[in-house]
Amino acid sequence: MTWWLWPKSLAARTAAVLLPGLALVQIAGLTIHTLDRIDIQRIAQARDLGLRIVPIYRAIAAAEPAERPSVLAELHVPPMMTATLANGPPLAPPPAFPPAQQGMFRIGSTSAGLADPRLRWREQLLYREPGTSQILYAFHLPLDGWLHISAEPDPVRPWHSPWFLTAFLLMTATAALLTLWTVRRLTAPVRVLAAAAETLGRDVYAAPLPEDGPTETATAAAAFNTMAARIRRFVGDRTEMLTAIGHDLRTPITRLKLRAEFIDDEDLRARMLADLDEMETMVAATLAFGRDSRVTEPVSQVDLAELMRTILDEAGDAHPTLAHRLSYHGEPHATVRARPVALKRAMANLVANALVYGGSAHVTVSPPADGAVQVTVEDDGPGIPAGELERVFEPFHRLEQSRNRETGGVGLGLPIARNMLRAHGGDVVLSNRPEGGLRAVVTLPV
Ligand SMILES: Nc1ncnc2c1ncn2[C@@H]1O[C@H](COP(=O)(O)OP(=O)(O)O)[C@@H](O)[C@H]1O
Ligand SMILES: [Mg+2]
Repeated sequence: MTWWLWPKSLAARTAAVLLPGLALVQIAGLTIHTLDRIDIQRIAQARDLGLRIVPIYRAIAAAEPAERPSVLAELHVPPMMTATLANGPPLAPPPAFPPAQQGMFRIGSTSAGLADPRLRWREQLLYREPGTSQILYAFHLPLDGWLHISAEPDPVRPWHSPWFLTAFLLMTATAALLTLWTVRRLTAPVRVLAAAAETLGRDVYAAPLPEDGPTETATAAAAFNTMAARIRRFVGDRTEMLTAIGHDLRTPITRLKLRAEFIDDEDLRARMLADLDEMETMVAATLAFGRDSRVTEPVSQVDLAELMRTILDEAGDAHPTLAHRLSYHGEPHATVRARPVALKRAMANLVANALVYGGSAHVTVSPPADGAVQVTVEDDGPGIPAGELERVFEPFHRLEQSRNRETGGVGLGLPIARNMLRAHGGDVVLSNRPEGGLRAVVTLPV
């Protein structure tokens, strides 16, 4: 249920794992450092207390019990410390002193320099007032009596140095920035590869990827380039074969035409020659198609709206009687990246079909949406039966009623249009308009 919190991009996901990890490591480091410093400061405090307490004790212990109060009155007791003489241990002693710290704060008689056994205390008791840092020392003095010294050690300040916190924050920020930067850098090749795959879909002749950078990136780029080269070769081989077949068919057709001249039956001869003429046109169209698709025209910025208006103008010039049945609607300009000549041929085929089979052509260029621009070419003709809407894209597939020489084509107009649009990453789809006539919808990535 919290999956929506999980980021989508690889970079964000990697950062989402690394940054909390970094935070954890920093917190652990800071804790270790703090505990360590507290320990060191405690040891320093204990030594410091010992150094201040021992002279007081020594002066009192060396004095006769009767003299002790006056000795104590003369003594210099450091501030934050009080020394009192008593007859016994504290009456209501504060209960606990952590055992680990007992050892740390307890004053050793040797380290106090009390070589003379007569000066040594009979007992040393340690108390800590709970909730405060006050430490109460109770010494059972030699001969008799007790000395109570209550001392307040300096507070423990593990982060006392302002530089430490600044340096720590700076270090954390630097590590975080470095992580983010590295993650973005490492995932950049994935973005480049995705963009290249996208470009290849629009244009098989797109420039190859640079094969540099880290080994993995270079290997992926090389593999991608090899794949692109294979696709190009595959496409090239097929058109080459098509052209070769078309080329080789021309000679037998010419021979057949020569032989047909010897047929005595005039009617049969005319029909055979007409068929052979048609075959010749088909072969010529096939060769032209092969030639066109082999040309690797450079991709450039093309104003699709301008291109459509030019096509309509030229169609108007070619069919002056139908000029008033041509119209343009929609965007005044729409820029796409395309091979201009190929794109023009594809779009001109659609407009010519609308004009020839539908008697009119209405072109609409819609504003770009979802990264694609849409062009519709509509006419008011009979349309195409639903079952044939896809089949007309097969080479040489023409509808029965249009099988006459007047309408010209050999059935390659739509296949060529679709082939070229798909090579641009676009497509063309036909449908019948409810009000009659055909609608061709072209989509092209911007
Ligand atoms: N706008 C249209 N209206 C009706 N039929 C069409 C239209 N466009 C294409 N067709 C049909 O699709 C067939 C294939 O078109 P096309 O591939 O352009 O070949 P050609 O125009 O050379 O015959 C045409 O022969 C025609 O029958
Ligand atoms: Mg046509």
